[in-house]
Amino acid sequence: MTIIDGKHTAEKIKDEIAAEVAAMVAAGERPPHLAAILVGHDGGSETYVSNKVTACEHCGFQSSLLRFDDDITEQQLIAEIERLNNDPGVDGFIVQLPLPRHIDEQKVTEAIAPGKDVDGFHPVNVGKLSIGLPCFKSATPSGIIDLLDRYGIPTAGKHAVVLGRSNIVGKPIASLLVQKAQPGNCTVTVCHSATPNIKELCLQADIIVAALGQPGFVTADMVKPGATVIDVGTTRVPDSSRKSGYRLSGDVDFDNVAPKCSFITPVPGGVGPMTICSLMKNTLLARKRSH
Ligand code: GUN
Repeated sequence: MTIIDGKHTAEKIKDEIAAEVAAMVAAGERPPHLAAILVGHDGGSETYVSNKVTACEHCGFQSSLLRFDDDITEQQLIAEIERLNNDPGVDGFIVQLPLPRHIDEQKVTEAIAPGKDVDGFHPVNVGKLSIGLPCFKSATPSGIIDLLDRYGIPTAGKHAVVLGRSNIVGKPIASLLVQKAQPGNCTVTVCHSATPNIKELCLQADIIVAALGQPGFVTADMVKPGATVIDVGTTRVPDSSRKSGYRLSGDVDFDNVAPKCSFITPVPGGVGPMTICSLMKNTLLARKRSH
């Protein structure tokens, strides 16, 4: 059984990006520039955005953080997005979610120019991903594919069971796994809250991707010996022994499932660190496309 080290893999990918950026800069080119819009003061969003800024530093990117109070209007926010869409010095940008309730997230997402949408959330990028065209792939599914690739996990002809049908994980990872590509070429089953026989389907899986947000949902009796288990769950559960008062819990009962697996991702330190890497890869791609 191999525990997939997402933290180490992510560091390695960022080192590779940094080397490529250093070569660009040495050749007299401008480094990639990622901008992030942060509205309000949500603790989780603050942490995520500051991690993104740190990753930019690691990769040699320029970064800009644009902060707004949570009383910004939808119209003002969209005006800021249009300014970034038209700024040739910004290669890509993200609007950190969630947004305050008076702002329509879908409208904001669709206001971002698809060519600068390094989160890969715009319907143009989602559509391109689903038909296998080059695009900005959304961060978590792209990170999972990179882990399968770098660990040499066989996927062609394998049965992948995806638990969860969210727009940012379940649906896009199902699209990528079914694609005629390497990694890919899986037979994919997507399970959700209305699926009656999740356990039976999981028992047939060579690869399980758990993205439901239900701590410990995948138990050892649901996993075929030798399966690969990718745990996308990151639910905060109260833990008074931690300084923060919480710990991150995955969707998989790791201690009991791990001994049955050929490969498994831990939480934390599995898929999580890979997501920022995907954002860095997309930003580098945006910079290269801007020539
Ligand atoms: N909030 C939680 N995850 C993400 C993400 O990947 N991108 C953005 N923009 N907001 C998020």
